[in-house]
Amino acid sequence: METIRRLSTFPGLLLVVALAFFAVVAVAEEGDDDIADATQQGVDAAESVESQIADTVESPEKRLTPEEVEAGQEAFLDIAEVLKSPRCMNCHPAGNKPLQTDESRPHALAVSHESTEAGLECATCHREQNSEAWGVEGGPPGAPHWGLPPRDMPMVFEGRTPQQLCEQLKDPTMSGHEDLGEFLHHVKHDKLVHWGWEPGGDRTTPPLSYEEFVEASRIWVESGGVCPE
Ligand code: HEC
Ligand code: HEC
Repeated sequence: METIRRLSTFPGLLLVVALAFFAVVAVAEEGDDDIADATQQGVDAAESVESQIADTVESPEKRLTPEEVEAGQEAFLDIAEVLKSPRCMNCHPAGNKPLQTDESRPHALAVSHESTEAGLECATCHREQNSEAWGVEGGPPGAPHWGLPPRDMPMVFEGRTPQQLCEQLKDPTMSGHEDLGEFLHHVKHDKLVHWGWEPGGDRTTPPLSYEEFVEASRIWVESGGVCPE
């Protein structure tokens, strides 16, 4: 009799156990939901921080004081003076032919991207040092990897306003670098940039000293790349 009563309550017990089990699962699932919620909140927060960073990079004015914006813009005007100087512009022309002399005349001998492609390397005449270093006065200037910027990324300095130069340097599709740190690296280490201050012959040097140019570049990059208006 006793056993039968126990057995008869068995399904009841089973039900209670089953309910308890589902309750635990439900709580656990709710927990999962909480975790999912929390994760989603984390993702949202991270995305919002990311978009804030993107906003700041796209429009650095947002996080800079007016004085810092002005310092960045002034630094870029100095940079532009250098880029427009014959020592830099002669290799960064609007067309596909380099320019030469302080008057930035078209290069003699019909030298261009085409002549390089036809097999006449710039380095045939432009060696790793200025010709004075070989004892030849007034000959071709020289520095390692002498050449024009690639056709698909011409980096034009000729006929550009400071504002256009600034936008060009910031645009990865036009400058070939992912961030402005690479621009600063180029300015600090590129042999062709260094050559601008040791151009040989009676060629003038850019209007800023090399140290002033690097410093202006650093200020501009640290401003996140504010452009003059
Ligand atoms: C002999 C030609 C030549 C001269 C002179 C020259 N450049 Fe360039 N420049 C290049 C080439 C080629 C590139 C493409 C990248 C490379 O090959 O280094 C380039 C790329 C650049 C870039 C883009 C690289 C980056 O990551 O932002 C800057 C900026 C630049 N030059 C600045 C200058 C400045 C400033 C001067 C003058 C002080 C100068 N260049 C003089 C040939 C020249
Ligand atoms: C056949 C020889 C020869 C070849 C090839 C040649 N050059 Fe020149 N280049 C010269 C001579 C010589 C000068 C110096 C003339 C002068 O004093 O301006 C010169 C001057 C220059 C200057 C002027 C530098 C300055 O700021 O005054 C630039 C820039 C230049 N060459 C770029 C190039 C590039 C880029 C190539 C390849 C596409 C190239 N050259 C190919 C002979 C050559």
